[in-house]
Amino acid sequence: MSPTRPYVLVLYYSRSGATRTLAEQVAAGVEEIAGVDARLRTVPPVSTTCEAVAPDIPSEGAVYATLEDLRQCDGLALGSPTRFGNMAAPLKYFLDGTSELWLNGALIDKPATAFTSTASLHGGQEATLLTMLIPMLHQGMVYAGVPYSESGLVNTSSGGTPYGTSHVAGERSDRSVDDIERTLARAQGRRLARLAMALRPLREEK
Ligand SMILES: Cc1cc2nc3c(=O)[nH]c(=O)nc-3n(C[C@H](O)[C@H](O)[C@H](O)COP(=O)(O)O)c2cc1C
Repeated sequence: MSPTRPYVLVLYYSRSGATRTLAEQVAAGVEEIAGVDARLRTVPPVSTTCEAVAPDIPSEGAVYATLEDLRQCDGLALGSPTRFGNMAAPLKYFLDGTSELWLNGALIDKPATAFTSTASLHGGQEATLLTMLIPMLHQGMVYAGVPYSESGLVNTSSGGTPYGTSHVAGERSDRSVDDIERTLARAQGRRLARLAMALRPLREEK
């Protein structure tokens, strides 16, 4: 059983800020549910230069995630910019370091979801979200997307998919998260938080 208040880990990577904005909205949705907190964390960039070392604390934004943040969470929202239809390497690098959690079944029966940002409308959001789901399934997590009871899914002309929320940032990353994208991100956070609380007793049975 977790020694802290129940929390959803909102774990993201963002270089130019779009995925971070979406992460903040998902976290705000989580916080709307009584009894559960949102814990915003990021991961450091990876470098092709072997000697490059990032400071322990980033100069701005969320602090870096630890394995403990992930081990103790009651749910996980994973956010990444789309890179060639897949998650960004820094996030994948972090996930590749979670073998110990997998060996111990630490994430089994915890709900998870994903969100992404692209430059272009048809630039691979859904492919990214679906590929982000794969490591979570290997960890035994229960994937939750965004249901069509959210009217934004049919009304959007920008981001928003049933596989997870998304944002179209534009070629110059200058397009703000719009109302529908924000509403969907918040709904996704709320749903994940509710599921996190609902699945807690199931995990405590073990
Ligand atoms: C290496 C690389 C690959 C990318 N691949 C795609 C892509 O496949 N489709 C797309 O629409 N945008 C692509 N982009 C653009 C980013 O997904 C987009 O700018 C995103 O909003 C960045 O999110 P951030 O502001 O959180 O860093 C790519 C960017 C980089 C640097």
